[in-house]
Amino acid sequence: MKSGKKFARITLDKDFQISPVDKRIYGSFIEHLGRAVYGGIYQPGHPSADGEGFRQDVLDLVKELGVPIVRYPGGNFVSNFYWEDSVGPVADRPRRLELAWRSTEPNLIGVNEFASWAKKAETQVMMAVNLGTRGIEAACNLLEYCNHPSGTKYSDLRISHGIKNPHRIKTWCLGNEMDGPWQTGHKTAYEYGRLADETAKAMRQIDPSLELVACGSSNTNMPTYPQWEATVLEEAYDSVDFISLHTYYGNRFHDTANFLAQSDDMDHFIKTVIATCDFVKAKKRSKKDIMLSFDEWNVWFHANEADDDTMKNRPWSVAPRLLEDQYDFEDALLVGLMLITLLKHSDRVRMACMAQLVNVIAPIMTEENGPAWRQTIYYPYLHASRYGRGIALETALRSSRHDTLDYTDVTDVDAAAVWDNEGEALTIFAVNRDLSEDITLEADLRSFPGYQLLEHLVLENPDMGAVNTAEKEAVCPHAATDRNQLADGILRAKLAPASWNVLRLKKSI
Ligand code: AHR
Repeated sequence: MKSGKKFARITLDKDFQISPVDKRIYGSFIEHLGRAVYGGIYQPGHPSADGEGFRQDVLDLVKELGVPIVRYPGGNFVSNFYWEDSVGPVADRPRRLELAWRSTEPNLIGVNEFASWAKKAETQVMMAVNLGTRGIEAACNLLEYCNHPSGTKYSDLRISHGIKNPHRIKTWCLGNEMDGPWQTGHKTAYEYGRLADETAKAMRQIDPSLELVACGSSNTNMPTYPQWEATVLEEAYDSVDFISLHTYYGNRFHDTANFLAQSDDMDHFIKTVIATCDFVKAKKRSKKDIMLSFDEWNVWFHANEADDDTMKNRPWSVAPRLLEDQYDFEDALLVGLMLITLLKHSDRVRMACMAQLVNVIAPIMTEENGPAWRQTIYYPYLHASRYGRGIALETALRSSRHDTLDYTDVTDVDAAAVWDNEGEALTIFAVNRDLSEDITLEADLRSFPGYQLLEHLVLENPDMGAVNTAEKEAVCPHAATDRNQLADGILRAKLAPASWNVLRLKKSI
């Protein structure tokens, strides 16, 4: 329905389950890029820095977000990463030309320091190996260094570096965006599929308990998409567990309705990759399902022009300011919609990484001599990570719809629901993407007797361009008190135009 009264209805039932949510869909990403590491997580000399030089103010925000896994060290960076240069006595580590971002890599932070940071941040490491300029041998050596207990060349090297216990890193990415001509060591799908397969097999000989992620397409505009996924999986189906997806959206033409419809594109992307995985499964008569690792997703466009200029017209330097997008209110809405989309596919999307975490297209920003602070996109990420753990439920969403420049039949409201059966809590995430009208979300909750509304968190702002800065937080959530009614198992919640909503219910005792 595209004209007439706007509406949104969902029906939640304990028995209509999509899947338990793998908490790792709330993962993130730290690359040696710009000020993510140097000046981001690590800044010796900052008033909050600990003995290892890690900023405690950043760690506190990462812990507040509850990030369960962090991909490292890239990204494009990994395709020219020499891990051996990043370990051992810091004074002996070489400085390197970092090709992906035209920077100088000082190697002050490497594999062991990052593992230590991850422990402090209460998160897991998702490690990527270099399949650009290197291959099977370097990947196996790094794995032996990280995970083998002792008594071999690389495990003993780790011990000689003061790290007695292995890092036990379970999840490994086999390269990064190998379909992209910008990638150092870019490959065809067949070349990459063969290399990924052989690398995976060798790595599993060292540690059979690994989870391995093969590179999918860098985005859906790649000319090789989705044949890339099919070819790679035809070569590596039996030896990998995940295929990666990456996507970034922008609003270059200042069309908010069209911008907010892009989560439908993400939805279509996920469905296509699932279909491609299952096509190869059928061809191979396999019993195994390949899962999806959406290990780069976000809004990214604000700083593009400045970055192009910096990349062309700057001398090699350590940690230049790159990809420092300043996010506005509408970016937070799209991030919320993208999180809803991930939840809707939680049966197949088992990992996802908001790219990235600190300073580089990030929810957390730092000032060199000042505080760490929260960008607008921090809040939907925080809410989903905090309240979106449990079982994702089918919503049977029905909503009035609209068309935009590039999309048709876009629902005015999109929603996802997660039931924490142990904690007897139910959370509904909903975005009203109508820009001018309130829409009442009617949720049939008769399958949840005794549940009461605890809180209705709302992110709203009359200015789509409102931003947060170190000095002023213009976009931050508040609890709405007068917009809801729960009677006879039906919740009616007023969703303000252009708003992110978190409806938190709990069974009363
Ligand atoms: O996240 C920034 C960059 O985007 C990553 O290095 C790369 O994988 C992607 O193109």
